[in-house]
Amino acid sequence: MPSIDYTLLNRQLEALLDTRDWLTNSAQTCAFIQQEIADLNWVGFYLQRQPEMLGLGPFQGKPACHPIPFSKGVCGAAARQQRTQRVDDVHAVADHIACDAESRSELVIPIIIDGYLWGVLDLDSPLPARFTLNDQVGIEALVATFQRQTDLH
Ligand code: SME
Repeated sequence: MPSIDYTLLNRQLEALLDTRDWLTNSAQTCAFIQQEIADLNWVGFYLQRQPEMLGLGPFQGKPACHPIPFSKGVCGAAARQQRTQRVDDVHAVADHIACDAESRSELVIPIIIDGYLWGVLDLDSPLPARFTLNDQVGIEALVATFQRQTDLH
């Protein structure tokens, strides 16, 4: 797999996110990631709109699970621990929530504002171990760009 130039992607995403609006920017961010990063079958936001619950936000891919409590799945673990979850084989995770049986690996990045969990960005791939540490660092940087370019308070 050719390695992705995340520095370039970051500059492009920064230029694309030219509103301060969370809805517009989150929709654009998913579309951009889906277009630029190979071998994804789903990318989208889950937002904390009720305490300890994740509601489905803008995404690219098939219709997905909603809602997801903080106590469940890989997205719930990212929300609870406020830490990125990188899973090479989702079948090995007992409480993984299978929205699409095709998904084999997953990366979930929490979005935290002043200690409060605003939401998560979830990426799924049909390939096992699709996300390397390099991808994690690169996509975390894309999420940081989304946060910088958006009014999330
Ligand atoms: N697999 C996720 C649920 C969200 S979908 O993949 C879109 C999880 O276990 O949290």
